[in-house]
Amino acid sequence: MTGPESEGTQVRRCVCPGSFDPITNGHLDIISRASRLYDEVYVAVMINKAKKGLFEVEERLDLIRAVTAEYANVRVEAFHGLLVDFCKQRDIPAIVKGLRAVSDFDYELQMAQMNNGLSGVETLFVPTNPTYSFLSSSLVKEVATWGGDVSHLVPPLVLDALNERLRQD
Ligand code: PNS
Repeated sequence: MTGPESEGTQVRRCVCPGSFDPITNGHLDIISRASRLYDEVYVAVMINKAKKGLFEVEERLDLIRAVTAEYANVRVEAFHGLLVDFCKQRDIPAIVKGLRAVSDFDYELQMAQMNNGLSGVETLFVPTNPTYSFLSSSLVKEVATWGGDVSHLVPPLVLDALNERLRQD
């Protein structure tokens, strides 16, 4: 065995969960920062059968894998059910979330407290880079749908996938 576990220290793992429909530069900023703080970062894409996204879950996974390929300690997986179960199965003690603005805080705090109450998993909030404080996948999709320029908000590969998908619709 190599790495921290062989040296008797615990591997520090975290998860960055979300819908990622599609991944934006804001998500990527949080994932890259988490990858500097933790030994292993799981990006967990929620499967929500009740809500059809613009991209299928497999497409989202492929896009995330491609744009996070430079981070050797990032793994990308889909999940359904409770996030705390995903964490338990992989021995992940921490959820890392970006906070864009105070308006995010109310719901994020509820989820953090619920998740902690359910299983003891901690949530760490990372202040979003101000460049992306207004950014969400929904807004990107809306702006792109009406021909607005989102090239500074998503990685080039995601931009291509968005344009391709929106041309089909
Ligand atoms: O990108 P999103 O849609 O804001 O992400 C929300 C997500 C996936 C992080 C949240 O809905 C979630 O954790 N869902 C999994 C189901 C769950 O554990 N629900 C209880 C939360 S307290």
